[in-house]
Formats: sequence, C-alpha cells, structure tokens
Amino acid sequence: MKRAGVIAKAIAAGFMALALSSAIAQGAKPAPSAASAASAQPSYAQRYASLCASCHGASGRSDMAGTPVLAGQHSFYAITQLFLFREGRRDNPAMTAVAKTMTDADLRGFSEFIATLPAVPAPAAATPPDAARMTRGQALAQEHRCVICHGADLSGGQQVPRIGQQHEDYLQLSLQGFRTGKRPGYTQAMGEAVSRIAPDDLDTLAYYVARFPGAPAKPPPK
Ligand code: HEC
Ligand code: HEC
Repeated sequence: MKRAGVIAKAIAAGFMALALSSAIAQGAKPAPSAASAASAQPSYAQRYASLCASCHGASGRSDMAGTPVLAGQHSFYAITQLFLFREGRRDNPAMTAVAKTMTDADLRGFSEFIATLPAVPAPAAATPPDAARMTRGQALAQEHRCVICHGADLSGGQQVPRIGQQHEDYLQLSLQGFRTGKRPGYTQAMGEAVSRIAPDDLDTLAYYVARFPGAPAKPPPK
C-alpha cells in the first residue's frame, strides 16, 4: 500500500476516534431530561428484540449466513463497529441501513445492551473437526500473534473483539476483507496483522477459530 494512503487512513482513524470519544463522553453526562425521555421510549433490549434479533438472534447467536455472533461481544468493540457502519466506513448494505438512523445515544445504548448478552457456545458439530487443520490453525494463531491481542482464550476485551467460536463464513469474510482493505477497521491493527498471511492460511485460521476448543467462554464484564 502507498504511504500516502496509510497516512490518510491513520488521520481518518484519528478523526473517528475523536468523534467517537465525544459520543462516549456525552453518555457519561446525560442531560437532566434523559431519564424521563428514556422512560417514554422502548428500552434497548426491546429495540434489539424488534430491530436486530431477526438477523442476530434473540440470544445474540443466529444461524443466518454471514451474520456475526454478538453474544459475548464487548461494548467498546460494538460501538466502534456501529460507528463505522453509520459513517459508511464499514460497508454492508443491511447493517449500513440499520446504523444510518442511529443517534450517538443509540450507538451507546445498543452496544451496552450487546455487552449484557452472555457468550453462547457454538452448537455441537455433526462431524469432529479435522485434527490436522486444527493443529495448523493453532500454530498460525501463535505465529501471527492473534492470541497476543485476542487473548489465549480468544475472548478479546475492550476494543478487541471476541472471536472464539464466531461463525466460520463470517470469520473468512472478515479476515479476507482486512487483508484486501475492503474492511478498513477502526485502527490499522488487523490490516497489519493479516497483510502478509496467505489467503489459504487465513481460511485455516477461520476454520480453527470457529471451532476453537477453549474453555466455555465467560460472560463479558458488565
Ligand atoms: C438484515 C439483517 C441484520 C439486521 C436487521 C441487523 N444486523 Fe447487525 N449485522 C448483520 C450482518 C450481515 C453483519 C456483518 C456485516 C459485515 O459482514 O460487514 C452485521 C454486523 C453487526 C455488528 C458488528 C459485529 C462484529 O462482530 O463486528 C454489530 C455490532 C451489529 N451488527 C449490531 C446490530 C444491531 C444493534 C442491530 C439492530 C439495531 C442489527 N445489527 C441489525 C445483519 C443484520
Ligand atoms: C495488534 C492486535 C491484533 C492482532 C495481532 C490481531 N488482531 Fe484481530 N482484531 C484486533 C482489533 C483491534 C480488531 C477490531 C477491528 C477494527 O479495528 O475494527 C480485530 C478484529 C478481528 C476480527 C473481526 C471480528 C469481528 O467480529 O468482526 C477477526 C476475525 C480477527 N480480528 C481475527 C484475528 C486473527 C485470526 C489474528 C491473527 C492472524 C488477529 N486477529 C490478530 C486486534 C488484533
């Protein structure tokens, strides 16, 4: 990638960070009328049930193709992604349409609600995983430092997403998207992490991460 492009992206990320931190800061000091306004409106749990659950599932894990598991995801990560969708930086027709109408309070409200959904393990697979592919995936995750940022149990934290037992098709799409730049990311972290990994190896990583055999994931911190 050309240096100018990298710098432009870094600057854009800086602006996004600023805009987002002001969205978060506003949440720390709710206007005096916020409580009465909130009681008149449906809660984010109710809004999630009516607006989001059809795709993401009531528990935050659905079987819909290409649709990520939200259960066990961290609020700070979720807000960065809703923000990216709203600003058109992360491109997906379904999610962009949903996020476009969100206020800053909505970004916060939905993200905080997502963080209350306990992690839901993947249902037991019909066939046991391919042992050689799992061993190879585990080695790649060590070699490419995935576990340094996402944690040895792949549960993430703060702005780093939980990835263990995420859907394989979605993991593949995301990893290939970071590699080609189709999914820019909130920061450069993932672009740099995968830029030198061969596409085949990314698919092996997706295979391994989706079937991650770690201890049952803990619910996220409230
Ligand atoms: C029509 C189906 C659909 C609806 C409705 C929908 N989503 Fe999504 N959502 C998706 C898909 C598909 C993706 C993955 C997009 C991609 O691949 O970039 C996604 C991604 C996300 C992500 C990013 C997850 C991650 O791991 O990066 C969040 C957060 C999210 N949705 C929250 C919501 C919320 C909150 C609502 C309701 C207000 C909602 N979604 C409604 C389909 C939907
Ligand atoms: C330097 C820290 C770092 C390293 C190393 C790293 N990641 Fe990430 N990862 C992140 C961050 C931060 C995000 C959030 C993406 C963004 O900026 O929008 C992320 C996002 C992801 C996502 C998207 C999850 C979702 O729900 O959409 C996947 C999948 C992922 N990483 C897998 C990996 C794999 C596999 C590796 C090893 C090859 C890896 N990561 C290495 C920090 C890291």
